[in-house]
Amino acid sequence: MNPYQVNGIGYFVRQQYNPERDCGRPILFIHGYPFDSSLWEPVFPFIPDSYRLIAPDLRGLGKTPLPESAAEESAAEEAVTMENFADDLAVLLDAMDVKEPLTLCGLSMGGYIAMRFAAKYPDRLAGMILSGTKTAADTAQIISNRQKQAAGLRSGTLTLKDVADLMLPQLLSPKTFSEKPKVAETVRTMIETNNPLGAAAAAAGMALRKDTADVVRNLTVPVQTFGGSDDKYVPPAEMNALAKKAKSGLFTEFLLSGHLPPMEQPETFANAVLLFVDSLFQAG
Ligand code: MLT
Repeated sequence: MNPYQVNGIGYFVRQQYNPERDCGRPILFIHGYPFDSSLWEPVFPFIPDSYRLIAPDLRGLGKTPLPESAAEESAAEEAVTMENFADDLAVLLDAMDVKEPLTLCGLSMGGYIAMRFAAKYPDRLAGMILSGTKTAADTAQIISNRQKQAAGLRSGTLTLKDVADLMLPQLLSPKTFSEKPKVAETVRTMIETNNPLGAAAAAAGMALRKDTADVVRNLTVPVQTFGGSDDKYVPPAEMNALAKKAKSGLFTEFLLSGHLPPMEQPETFANAVLLFVDSLFQAG
């Protein structure tokens, strides 16, 4: 039970599950950076409890700690790679006894992790949802920015409040800021209350990413990509192009959403997820 023991770490998992109504269509939601599983909380009420919803706080983020060694100064340079996260998730699924074909739903960094998971554990998948993410590795400039951010968070010269100040204006659509100011507050709190060392490790891990375009091209399961029309991190045209790389890919745009449609438009997001997941099981 919560927390689940995963590679020596107590993994906190937000879940919705009614074993008596289980329709055998589990969905694993993977959050972005520097967020936690509460990113998905607004979506859950719009999905029936016959679906098994699994949304972990990734290692070092939210309520899931880093391994003890990484919290020590000697391990201050440690990065958590996208593959490390993916391996954690595979162990977590075993710990939760999830054996049915799985839909992954990854947002931004969660998408980077989902692609690594798909490369390593393809047999576990029924389908893949990628929201506001990309396959390209970082440019030299972005790598340098991430390394500076990680070093600043570790030394304390940069706080997660600074990161929130930097990111928040880019994260949400103007409509969300004006009509749902509470969402902006929730996102700010989610970032500011995160673990700076965990965020540093994830930032350093993102900088080590390799290109995953081939992973998407080689996927044998259907792929659904999502893009917010106002996403300043990944423009919707890129998500459309990503869907076209897949053998079976579909793109859906969320009008007037930014980078975080699960928080900005949770009902629309939930409906789009359900439409896709159900299509996976009707095809055969
Ligand atoms: C995220 O939302 O996960 C981040 O913006 C991803 C990134 O920094 O590449």
